[in-house]
Amino acid sequence: MLRRMRRESAKQVGHRDTWDTGEVLAELPSGGPIDLAGLFGNARPVECEIGCGKGTFILARAAARPEVNLLGIEYARSYCRYTADRVRRQRERLAAAVHDPRRTPAGTHEAYEHATRNAHEHATHDARKHADDTALPPAASVRMVCADAADVVARLPAGSLIRMHIYFPDPWPKRRHHRRRLIQPPFVQTLQRVLRPGGELLVVTDHLGYFKHIRRVLTDVPGLARIAFPRMTDADGECVGTNFERKYITQGRAFYSLARLRYTIACGRPVRR
Ligand SMILES: C[S@@+](CC[C@H](N)C(=O)[O-])C[C@H]1O[C@@H](n2cnc3c(N)ncnc32)[C@H](O)[C@@H]1O
Repeated sequence: MLRRMRRESAKQVGHRDTWDTGEVLAELPSGGPIDLAGLFGNARPVECEIGCGKGTFILARAAARPEVNLLGIEYARSYCRYTADRVRRQRERLAAAVHDPRRTPAGTHEAYEHATRNAHEHATHDARKHADDTALPPAASVRMVCADAADVVARLPAGSLIRMHIYFPDPWPKRRHHRRRLIQPPFVQTLQRVLRPGGELLVVTDHLGYFKHIRRVLTDVPGLARIAFPRMTDADGECVGTNFERKYITQGRAFYSLARLRYTIACGRPVRR
């Protein structure tokens, strides 16, 4: 089944395996804790997306939040490489547009707007907010890892993430396949461990059965408080702006979102640090 899904995903992004993934595609060492500062080459806060698919969300996020590092985990090799190539091209276009004096004066608000409009499919409010700060790079550092998220997340240090995005995870609708679902009690314990206090877990699915399962599993984990789902895109009618969301919107499907805040207990009261 997994092999068939991988063949299908290769078909959808083309059979080309000549993507130029540059430094975006990362090889992790085979075991032990993952050194995120080493992976990104800096110690900025890290957000993670599991199951990036064709990478539309992580691309938009990189342009919207240049001050964070973004770790994408995608186990379909073709999608992972395709996304890494898209991220590399986005960085090059943004950098060229911002610094090309023939187009607009480098480092100006207009330069950033220009770059964002041309190179970034879904410029967000956050991107414009950061446009004045010329000290910031034009897009966040992104690293794509081609691996099973359960293995990668288990190797992340405690409290190392500020946000975990999981959008439209495979629902495995047949009962006999439910055990293949990514979001299960042991995995949620791991998620709770790797989020730092004040960090957020964000999940969106179109599958009501999976949504109820995730909600139940999250209820059983201490240290995760329910919060309102934050706005992830400025696009009208979209919740997070992924490819699956856009496809499902055209089909008129309903979406279910869950957002949780990681907290610690101090003096008997939950605190976000
Ligand atoms: C239904 S697609 C959604 C893709 C994207 N998030 C979107 O909304 O367009 C689910 C994606 O998660 C990936 N995936 C599923 N389980 C995974 C796992 N355990 N580790 C990493 N990626 C996974 C699949 O390869 C697929 O690309």
